[in-house]
Amino acid sequence: MFDSGVGGLSVLRAIRELLPAENLLYIADSAHAPYGDLTPERIRERSEHITRHLVEHGAKAVVVACNTATAIAVEHLRTLYSLPIVAIEPAVKPAVHRTATGTVGVLATSATLASPRYAALLARYGDRARVVAQACPGLVERIEQGDWDSTDTRRLLQGYITPLLSAGADQLVLGCTHYPFLRGLIEEIVGPAVEVLETGPAVAAELRRRLAAGALLAAPGRGEVRFLTSGAPERVAPVLVRLWREPVQLEVWSG
Ligand code: DGL
Repeated sequence: MFDSGVGGLSVLRAIRELLPAENLLYIADSAHAPYGDLTPERIRERSEHITRHLVEHGAKAVVVACNTATAIAVEHLRTLYSLPIVAIEPAVKPAVHRTATGTVGVLATSATLASPRYAALLARYGDRARVVAQACPGLVERIEQGDWDSTDTRRLLQGYITPLLSAGADQLVLGCTHYPFLRGLIEEIVGPAVEVLETGPAVAAELRRRLAAGALLAAPGRGEVRFLTSGAPERVAPVLVRLWREPVQLEVWSG
């Protein structure tokens, strides 16, 4: 699995719960976060490089635990590798089915929202409801720094969410795997009338389906979880430990 940083842990958590027997290798590409600010070429390059590393280390499947890398690179990765590549996209489809007001709000990175893949998602489901999107520059950095509830983070988030509420959204799609770590704050801001949607559990279910279909599921038992980062371990480790809530061995990856 990989993400630009710690955000994909929201997906890792769902996978660990559903598939406890699997050995999981998580790469946090923290030296290159946030992906949302990189060019599409660079995001594709990083995604390819990391996927190659995972495949060379015996991965039987790859999970792209990053909406931005999925939006920009997943098709390219699938042309390179034939193993199952499970990816993630903003939960626009369930949101347009659930909305009562007819308006759905989406929070995501600028790169995701600018991608042809997101445009295709809107073309598929956008006629069922009004989908209002908001890019959230600066938010991923705050989560990477472990700044999850300061006044500044709250203010930043409020600024991004308020226009969506004013537009009448009753569904709020967290279209970046980092944002579930702000879920408490987000729910406080939107109140009980707005449903907050994240995608980690759906990705875990899809991974299980793909592994089962390929007869690739691990035998019952307790698999291990390994963490690698391309960033500075002294900066990444404290945030990782707080988010994962289990003892963590963080290995440095020169990738
Ligand atoms: N977790 C990534 C995503 O889901 C973060 C993007 C970024 O690094 O900007 O899009």
